[in-house]
Amino acid sequence: MSEYALDHHLAGERQRLALMSRLLDPMHRRHIARLGTWPGARTLEVGCGNGSMSAWLAGQVAPGGRAVAVDLDLSLADADAPGLEFRQGDIVAGPVEPGDFDLVTARAVLHHVADRDAAVANLVASARPAGAILLIEPDFLPVSVAEPPEVRAFWQGWLAWSRVQGIDYFVGRRLPGMLAGLGVTDIAGTAETAVYNGGSPWAEYWRETVVELRPRLVASGSLDDRSIGAFLARCDDPAWWTQTIAFTAVAGRAAGG
Ligand SMILES: C[S@@+](CC[C@H](N)C(=O)[O-])C[C@H]1O[C@@H](n2cnc3c(N)ncnc32)[C@H](O)[C@@H]1O
Repeated sequence: MSEYALDHHLAGERQRLALMSRLLDPMHRRHIARLGTWPGARTLEVGCGNGSMSAWLAGQVAPGGRAVAVDLDLSLADADAPGLEFRQGDIVAGPVEPGDFDLVTARAVLHHVADRDAAVANLVASARPAGAILLIEPDFLPVSVAEPPEVRAFWQGWLAWSRVQGIDYFVGRRLPGMLAGLGVTDIAGTAETAVYNGGSPWAEYWRETVVELRPRLVASGSLDDRSIGAFLARCDDPAWWTQTIAFTAVAGRAAGG
């Protein structure tokens, strides 16, 4: 069974997922709109979190469509819509209804999954021949030039911690090659990066996440209290502008069809 470092029973996880929906759903919807959905279509979202994207997908495929939403842990899945079906499941364990879905998508999931190759293979195998596949994952490229130096040092410590956790914050750049290796065609992608300042929703996201994980980060030895404190102070400073994640969205078509 796969494990997930930011598990749903951490105190702030519901709020963090709500912030992710607010910050990332508009981009995710744009990418899906480009691929196309239609009434009666069958969609699959894996690692659905609170289910906000799948609830939207259910609306896009109505009437007559299905929006299946899978997650290891459905305890925070609180969306509801006709045609929306939540299912508990681990994408590493196998495909979901193999060869069935017109669209398969996952966002901000694969960087947490230890056996990423199996997860991507199972996502692709869930799509029908020529079905669309859309993966959106982080790439922390921007933190390598983050300013000021104390913020860059914070991110270096964060990345060191994440590597020990088995989190791959650079998986975004690997998505095209993974899909190509599975025979996916028409592969194309873009990456977009929010520019945000202290006090903004993205700063709030990081503040909540880092405060929640602070004891674990310090215990790991990758970050100390001073470095964490310096980063959190920036998160409150409206004059500090920065960029953290290049969200890399890569789409293609499953083989066949
Ligand atoms: C960072 S959250 C992202 C949630 C949502 N996709 C979003 O972007 O707002 C990652 C989600 O993936 C789920 N997850 C992690 N590993 C998984 C796996 N192997 N199979 C299915 N879901 C998984 C977690 O339970 C969690 O809900």
